[in-house]
Amino acid sequence: MKKLWGGRFTQTAEEWVEEFGASIPFDQELVEEDIKGSLAHVAMLGKCGILLEGDVQKIKQGLQLLEQKALNNELSFSVSEEDIHLNIEKMLIEEIGPVGGKLHTGRSRNDQVATDMHLYLQKNVNEIILLICEFQAALVTQAEHHIEAIIPGYTHLQRAQPISFAHHLMAYFWMLERDKTRYKESLKRINQSPLGAGALAGTTFPIDREYSASLLGFNSIYENSIDAVSDRDFIVEFLSNSSMLMMHLSRLCEEMILWSSQEFQFIEIDDRFATGSSIMPQKKNPDMAELIRGKTGRVYGNLFGLLTVLKGTPLAYNKDMQEDKEGMFDTVKTVIGSLQIFTGMIASMVINKNQMSAATKQDFSNATELADYLASKGLPFREAHEIVGKLVLTCIDREFYLLDLPFNEYKNACHLFEEDIFDYLDPYTAVNRRNSVGGTGFREVENAILQAKLRLEKK
Ligand code: ARG
Repeated sequence: MKKLWGGRFTQTAEEWVEEFGASIPFDQELVEEDIKGSLAHVAMLGKCGILLEGDVQKIKQGLQLLEQKALNNELSFSVSEEDIHLNIEKMLIEEIGPVGGKLHTGRSRNDQVATDMHLYLQKNVNEIILLICEFQAALVTQAEHHIEAIIPGYTHLQRAQPISFAHHLMAYFWMLERDKTRYKESLKRINQSPLGAGALAGTTFPIDREYSASLLGFNSIYENSIDAVSDRDFIVEFLSNSSMLMMHLSRLCEEMILWSSQEFQFIEIDDRFATGSSIMPQKKNPDMAELIRGKTGRVYGNLFGLLTVLKGTPLAYNKDMQEDKEGMFDTVKTVIGSLQIFTGMIASMVINKNQMSAATKQDFSNATELADYLASKGLPFREAHEIVGKLVLTCIDREFYLLDLPFNEYKNACHLFEEDIFDYLDPYTAVNRRNSVGGTGFREVENAILQAKLRLEKK
């Protein structure tokens, strides 16, 4: 079939070669963006007197018709037209006749595809930011209801100090807050227009790049035409921001998987986000949490894939860059899906407060309280640490915990101990007293939740 670019060719590629080179099987995802970009381009051509108003109107109407058909899923794309840009141009010419061929004046597929990608991320990054807010809101709601639920806090996955479960959840709130800031920050670079850069060198037509940029909701234009068509940093940045977000989600997945195990029993994941086993009738598997943890791998893969594609490409556009798309689409889908599932999973998880509190009574996570106790009475902390370490060893030998050790043994270990140590050893008291800024004390956690809510209101 005759190509839109077929003038200098005497032979056509065989079908399987054509198929290998085509991006239409996946870049049809950009249909809306491609038409939107063309509408802005043709409006600019009209405004600058490059095309006659009559032609502009015909092209506009043709594009709007295609836009409508795209919305109704009525467009059928063909591999022989290679990509979304040529498919749409061909359809336009079929709709309105040869005047449709004027649309590509002063433009190349190179600035066109870059424009489409910017528009695509503009839409989806804003969507992701909203979904992060919803996820954070679910975390805040759970936290608010469980300020006084106490769990052992861990370091090295060894019980360290008792903490408020709400405080633990809120740690994720702040990670996600940073992720959101990163995405927002990246919008500056996403909202930049490459349109009008042409193939790489600009154009002889008296175009107005600022005008088409403003029609597309971009805040600025690329300064350099070569950079405009070669740059994929904004996609790398998106993949990197998404990798960080997925890494955070994955860490929480891991915790939820642990917490819902028989060994912990801190939470119960709602049935809607779990599955059974085909052989073991008792099983309830935290599939969605595992899957999100797993999907983190493909997002990292997409980041490394694109960095590797780009590293050896000379300026300006190279066909290699067509490989930028699938990883980006896949990441958008993965991040959006993961956030939606996760929000539901957090909102519906049931907290087993009794089990949590029982866990804090069967460990030595209150040992720091004793050391702090002695230090607050003037003993150097290092010495206090040593004394308490020995007491822990005594308890381990006798197979009980610090609360079970008789008072006279405390007194023998150090004269500074008084009867009130048993209050200090209570995990509830231990948590309640940690009201340094950003700490797990109940008052501090309440305050942090308030701050978080204010942040969410501001968006
Ligand atoms: N399908 C191409 C891509 O996705 C569009 C740009 C093609 N430009 C070119 N000069 N062949 O990268």
